[in-house]
Amino acid sequence: MRSYRIAAIPGDGIGIEVIATGVKVLEACAEGEDFRLEFQHFDWGSDYYKRHGAMMPADGLELLRPFDAIYFGAVGAPDIPDHITLWGLRLAICQPFDQYANVRPTRLLPGIQSPLRGVTAKDLDWVIVRENSEGEYAGQGGRSHRGLPEEVATEVAIFTRAGVTRIMRFAFRLAQSRPRKLLTVVTKSNAQRNGLVMWDEIAAEVAREFPDVAWDKMLVDAMTVRMTMKPQSIDTVVATNLHADILSDLAAALAGSMGIAPTANLNPERVFPSMFEPIHGSAFDITGKGIANPIGTFWSGQMMLEHLGEKAAAGRLMGAIEAVTGDASLHCPDLGGKATTVKVTEAVCSQLRKRAAESRPASVHALVS
Ligand code: IPM
Ligand code: MG
Repeated sequence: MRSYRIAAIPGDGIGIEVIATGVKVLEACAEGEDFRLEFQHFDWGSDYYKRHGAMMPADGLELLRPFDAIYFGAVGAPDIPDHITLWGLRLAICQPFDQYANVRPTRLLPGIQSPLRGVTAKDLDWVIVRENSEGEYAGQGGRSHRGLPEEVATEVAIFTRAGVTRIMRFAFRLAQSRPRKLLTVVTKSNAQRNGLVMWDEIAAEVAREFPDVAWDKMLVDAMTVRMTMKPQSIDTVVATNLHADILSDLAAALAGSMGIAPTANLNPERVFPSMFEPIHGSAFDITGKGIANPIGTFWSGQMMLEHLGEKAAAGRLMGAIEAVTGDASLHCPDLGGKATTVKVTEAVCSQLRKRAAESRPASVHALVS
């Protein structure tokens, strides 16, 4: 029996609610299968910070290192500055574990309407690849003369040939694996004339390694217009850390809600564990109300199963998610419905069990039903 060790880090706010349900759904995926998921929980986050003065223990990375994957909820609390929570936990894992490829699929799932008039599932099926190790999130910069009128702060975006080349190759390869073989490279190389001109040059160099992939370039501001006005013209997208952060929020909104959007923070070489999380964040406004949409977390779990190589289980989970979103009575409030987190979770679990029973041979089926 194959066995995978998963570190669950629920973090803050609704992260705690959705990871609890995500673990249930993943366990239901593994029922009766020839693989096991062993979860270990880590109570790191803002409450831990209040008790210990750090978001995670000093040896946190060593503790995580042996795991096959990390299942992450959200970070952020109303009473701790966001840059402390973010740099203390999420980026403190992504950067040292070199999870440089952040993958954000966006699709209009069954039963969900885009706010864009007339746009249906066939018009909106994208994957955004976010450079996740450098760029505007490199952490370079500083502040001097604090509080004085001459105070100065710098926030330096770092682009390295190695960093840009590897994310470009990753994005071209991903585009190549999809039916349309189409990549849009997003920059702002008219205004940012150093790092992003290099980004464009490297894109052109890497493109030569992928002659079967059609590619084009967009400036990030114009990309927001294209995503809104011509969603059908887009398939795979690659952009810098900050640009893709912004574009992926727009993408999630155009696909119906932030509550359903998933992410994988991948270390493609598998030297370190990769991390899977919903995009939505800790959402203090709805924390504790039991109405957080768990679909983004389930979809992130589906990406985790794929990464672990459990393709059949991943496919079954996606089918179960789509069956549930297809039923409007199972929509949470972010989608305009009244369903609770628990109701959606139960529905996905029962879909999974149904699908597992259907996929077993008849004799086994007779025994289990
Ligand atoms: C995301 C989020 C984070 C980011 C926040 C929580 C800092 O917006 O995953 O897109 O910008 O990376
Ligand atoms: Mg974001």
